[in-house]
Amino acid sequence: MTILESIGSVRESFRADLDSFPTDQREIDLLRSKYFGRKGLLADLYILLSGLSNKEKPKAGQSINSLKKELQKEFDRKTASIAGPKHVTNDQLLDLSLPGYPITNGSIHPLQQTLDEIKGIFKSVGFKVAYGPEIEDDYHNFEALNIPKHHPARDMQDTFFVEDNVVLRTHTSNVQIHLMEEREPPLRYIVPGRVYRNEAVSYKSYCLFHQIEGLYVDKNVSMGDLKGILEYFVKRFFGESTTMRFRPSFFPFTEPSAEVDIWDEKREKWMEILGCGMVDPNVFDNVGYDSTVWHGYAFGMGIERMAMLKYGIDDIRLFYQNDVRFLEQF
Ligand code: DAH
Repeated sequence: MTILESIGSVRESFRADLDSFPTDQREIDLLRSKYFGRKGLLADLYILLSGLSNKEKPKAGQSINSLKKELQKEFDRKTASIAGPKHVTNDQLLDLSLPGYPITNGSIHPLQQTLDEIKGIFKSVGFKVAYGPEIEDDYHNFEALNIPKHHPARDMQDTFFVEDNVVLRTHTSNVQIHLMEEREPPLRYIVPGRVYRNEAVSYKSYCLFHQIEGLYVDKNVSMGDLKGILEYFVKRFFGESTTMRFRPSFFPFTEPSAEVDIWDEKREKWMEILGCGMVDPNVFDNVGYDSTVWHGYAFGMGIERMAMLKYGIDDIRLFYQNDVRFLEQF
């Protein structure tokens, strides 16, 4: 085969390959190196060329060069017509005019908002904020609050036991005892915190929830003071025109005891919002306060319950599901 014949057969082979030009990038690369690679068909022709006599070289050399140009042009044209990401430059891929993914603002959880608001109201009238343990001994959660073992009042709160005599606190009232054990009267505190009850989960009860306890101990504290502070609170929290009532009730740690209801316009009924009363002298005895000198009131309310009434939420579980569609409404 003369060199011109070899050149001709490379051209023919290239034509055939062009007819079934691959679309896959890997195959395109293979094809490119078949012709243009270091060991490709064009390189073979140059090797043949180097073996020619000086007389034959110029003409053959020109033919190979023009073949090379021709193939390169065709090859480029073909690859350009195949739209693949590799042939698109970065700034063509990046369309800066497309709308971006929206970044939404987070919001404060409705329970936290409610808690902040309640805290703010009580702080504005002189209450300090204290906290206490969620894992509690039987004594602080029950006994010292005048709820002896086997007393039917224990059934008011279904309890999670950690071990004998150690419970997940069923209310924030345990912190009343800690505060009075640790400090001398007078004292005026609110105590927010998480509490636990071993109840079937439903729209109205959950295995954990939050409470705020209030405790005020001083000389000459009366039921009138308790009514005054709670009325002030209710009107600030639910609105000036809120109707409320005190209803006699029973709690082992207060005597007398009451529950407070507010009139719910939407539901058209009284809704209970909290329990309260005058600290029972037995409780003072348990913490070593002289109950002939010191008097006090206490109250306890559920934060979920407050939020549900204020915002018209009818399922307590919503607070714990972290569904953005719920959360972003606050
Ligand atoms: N601890 C009570 C409960 O969880 C609520 C309560 C009632 C707290 C009366 C008080 C109180 O401090 O005086 O149901």
